[in-house]
Order: sequence, then C-alpha cells, then structure tokens
Amino acid sequence: MAETPTRVLGDGTSVPVLGFGTYPLRGDDGVRAIASALEVGYRLIDTAVNYRNEREVTEAIRVSGVDRGDVFVQTKVPGRDHENARTSIETSLQVMDLEYLDSVLIHWPNPSQGHYVKAWQGLVDAREAGLVRSIGVSNFTPAHLDEIIEATGVTPASNQVEMHPAFPQADQRAADAERGITTQAWSPIGRGEILDAEPVVAAARAHDVTPAQVVLRWHLHLGSLPLPKSGDPERQRTNLEIFGFDLSEAETEAITALGRPDGRLFDADPTYHVEM
Ligand SMILES: NC(=O)c1ccc[n+]([C@@H]2O[C@H](COP(=O)([O-])OP(=O)(O)OC[C@H]3O[C@@H](n4cnc5c(N)ncnc54)[C@H](OP(=O)(O)O)[C@@H]3O)[C@@H](O)[C@H]2O)c1
Repeated sequence: MAETPTRVLGDGTSVPVLGFGTYPLRGDDGVRAIASALEVGYRLIDTAVNYRNEREVTEAIRVSGVDRGDVFVQTKVPGRDHENARTSIETSLQVMDLEYLDSVLIHWPNPSQGHYVKAWQGLVDAREAGLVRSIGVSNFTPAHLDEIIEATGVTPASNQVEMHPAFPQADQRAADAERGITTQAWSPIGRGEILDAEPVVAAARAHDVTPAQVVLRWHLHLGSLPLPKSGDPERQRTNLEIFGFDLSEAETEAITALGRPDGRLFDADPTYHVEM
C-alpha cells in the first residue's frame, strides 16, 4: 500500500492531499466502512458533529489498528454551537475519546445568524489551548473570510467548499489561494452524477483509469484537496490510487469547462444557506 503524498497547510500542518468523507456512514456499518478506508490507506478522515458519526471514527481507527497519531482527524462545529465553539470542540473530544483533533472547521457561516466571527474566535482559543492543531472553515465566501481574518488576525488554514466538475469554484479557489488558504472539496465526484460526462470518460479511456479517478486527479491538478466518500472497499481503494497518472492541461480544461453557474448539487449557496 503506497503512502498518500502530503502537503503543508498555511499554518505549517502537514496533511494528506486526499482524504475520506464519512457522511452518512453511521453505526456498525459506518465503523466497518471507515475502518476499511483506513485499511486501504486513507489517513485524513473528515467528520462533523452533524454527521453523528464522530464516535464511529474513533472506533474505526481502533478496529483498523492504525496508529491514532498517523491519522489526520477533522471535525466541524455546527451552526447551533457558533456562540460556544470551544465547548463544542471539547464535547467532540469527549465523544471521540481523543486528546486532540488535527483539524476543526466551522461547518457553515450561517450569515443570517451573525455569529461566525465569534465562532472563529472560539476555534482560535481552542487551538491556543492545544485542543486542535489546525483550524479552518467550510463554505466561507471571500467576504466571510475577510471578516474573520480582520477581526482576529488569524487566517484559516483550510476552506472546505462544494467543488466538482459541474461547480469548479474558480473564483473561490483563487480567493482562498490569495489568502494562503487550502481549498478542500466536498462532494468531489459530484456524488457520482458527473462521472459519465464526455471529457471525464474520454480521459478515463486515455489513461486506463476509472472516471472517478480522473475527477479526483483533476482536483489535485487544480490544487484542491478532495474528500471522496464511498462505503465500498473496492471504490475506496481505486479512489485513492490516483498517483500513477496525470491529466494534460487540455484534459483538465475540458473537465473544468463542464462547470455551470447553477452547477451546485442542491441549493447550498453559503450566502444564505443555514445549517444548524
Ligand atoms: N462541508 C460541507 O458542508 C459538506 C457537505 C457535503 C459533504 N461533505 C463532506 O464531503 C464528503 C464527500 O461528499 P459526498 O459524499 O457528498 O459526495 P462524493 O464523495 O462526491 O460522492 C459520494 C457518492 O459517490 C459514490 N461513489 C464513490 N466512489 C465512486 C466511484 N469510484 N464510482 C462511482 N461512484 C462512486 C458513493 O457511493 P458508494 O458509497 O456506494 O461507493 C456516493 O454515493 C462527505 O462524506 C463529507 O465528509 C461536506
């Protein structure tokens, strides 16, 4: 099993260039699926309080026999905890029976609530207290980013946003990069919905790989960090095996050209979406 290459985030933390998404893996099946992901080699596990599977993540690490110190564990603070983000992180640590988290993100800015600056201050405090190594956000627009950076002087290391060929996020990626923030991609293979698009299928044929491998490689080519989910061990394995080929500029551009302004999978525009 080859090791996944790593990259260094803006805060100096080292992280695998591709991780495993755990929503909606829960219960015994969830533990089995996450443990299998660790066994095939994933070392970044993305969970959230709202996925209700943080306990399963720790159990899966135990079952897999992989050293906890070798796994980058990332969770997210939900909207209902924006005013008590540090307490939310302490609760996650208790639920997960861990001494520290590798990364914590604010799950959604929920602008209508108006508490994301306070939530960010809570994450900053938690990092200073040693509860978490790296802090970041999710679904933050450039305006949200600037507000929290200006208020605290602390730049998020990561911004996890919806990104796949139907919604390639060129402007958001550029805005993240300008601020030294790594863009993480949620729903990186578009929940499987874009895998039969012509440029994806053509590149898969040309490189003798699967359409999902093409799309995940496309993310690396653009500098984003994809977090594919699969409950199937064989798909988990192939989704991780994307380091033996590369896409040409023309292939990358043809896949990016699948993007549409209305390409989001559902109505999750962070300027108004609310998730508690
Ligand atoms: N921050 C946020 O607001 C946010 C929002 C949504 C998601 N996320 C995170 O992002 C992760 C991934 O997103 P996602 O689960 O929505 O979408 P995704 O990873 O793009 O797609 C997952 C779907 O694709 C299927 N699939 C996986 N590998 C495949 C392959 N090789 N060929 C064909 N189909 C394949 C999976 O089915 P099988 O399981 O049957 O293989 C599943 O139905 C989540 O698990 C979560 O951790 C974050």
